[in-house]
Amino acid sequence: MNPAALERTQTTLRIAPLSATTGAECTGVDLAQLKEGEWERLVEAYHQSSLLVVRDQKLAKDAQIAFSERFGELELPIRKDYVGKDFAALHVVSNIGADGKPNNTKGLENPGNFFWHTDASYMKRPASTTLLYAIEIPASGGDTNFANMHAAYDALPAAMQQRIASLRAVHSWEQSRHNSGSRPASEEEKLQAPPVAHPLVRTHPETGRKGLYLGNHTSHIEGMDVDEGRALLQQLLAHATQPQFVYRHKWQPGDIVIWDNRSLLHKASDDFDMNNCARVLHRTVVQGTVPQ
Ligand code: OGA
Ligand code: MN
Repeated sequence: MNPAALERTQTTLRIAPLSATTGAECTGVDLAQLKEGEWERLVEAYHQSSLLVVRDQKLAKDAQIAFSERFGELELPIRKDYVGKDFAALHVVSNIGADGKPNNTKGLENPGNFFWHTDASYMKRPASTTLLYAIEIPASGGDTNFANMHAAYDALPAAMQQRIASLRAVHSWEQSRHNSGSRPASEEEKLQAPPVAHPLVRTHPETGRKGLYLGNHTSHIEGMDVDEGRALLQQLLAHATQPQFVYRHKWQPGDIVIWDNRSLLHKASDDFDMNNCARVLHRTVVQGTVPQ
C-alpha cells in the first residue's frame, strides 16, 4: 500500500484513563472519518469508563449528528423553543443572548444544568448517551462535573443497598423545573412529560452493573411519605456526589465529551463570568431504553 493510502486506513487512536472510576481520553482520531476498528475500541472504552473525552475535533453539526446516531436514535428536546432551529436533533447550550453578547443565563435559560442530574430521566425512555461538543469555552471556570453512580452504589453499606433495592423514584419535568428554580413547566410540556417512576437502583442494560438512578429530576419515592422519600433521595445524592466519585472535566475548545447517563450524574459549574465570557457547546442526545 502506498504511504498516503496507509495513512488513510491506519489508526492513530490512543485511549488513556482519566480517573480511577470514570472517563477515558481519546486522541489521534477524527470522529467525522473513523478508520477501521476505531468505533469498536471507542465503544469498549465507553462501556468501561462511562465517559469519553475526544480531543481536537472539527465537527460540523451534521457530522456530530451522524456520529451520535451510531449510538442509537436521537432525542428531540421537550422545550419547544429549542426545536426547529437548523438541526432539530442538535441543540446549542449557550449563554449568548439575542444581542450576540454573553449574558448571565443562570436565571433565564437552563438553570437545571447547574444541579446534579441524568439527562431526560423524566421520560419513560430516558437518554442513554449525551454528546457535548465545545465550540467556545471561558478562559476559566465552566467545567462539567460527572459522578459515577456505579462506584457510589458499590460504596453504600449493605443495609442501605438492601433498603433501596426495590424502591422506585418518581421523576418529573414539572418537579425538576421547581427543584432548580426554573420557569415553571408549561401545560404542553407537562402533557408531553408526565411524572414517571424508575427503579432507584438500575441495572445497566449493556454492562449489567448496578447504579443509583436519581438527581434533580426526581420528585419523591413511590409509595413512601413524600417528605421521607425526599430526605432519602437527598441523603443518597449527598453520598453519591462526594469527591471520590467525581471526575471534573475542564473543557478545551474542540473537545467532545460523550457520557453514559445510565452510569453518571452530571452538572455544570457556575463559576465563570457569564456576563462577559461566551460558553457555547453543541449537544446531541441518544434515546435509551426503559430503565430496569
Ligand atoms: C447537558 C448539560 C452541562 C454543561 O447538556 O445536558 O447538563 O456543563 N450540560 O453544560
Ligand atoms: Mn444535562
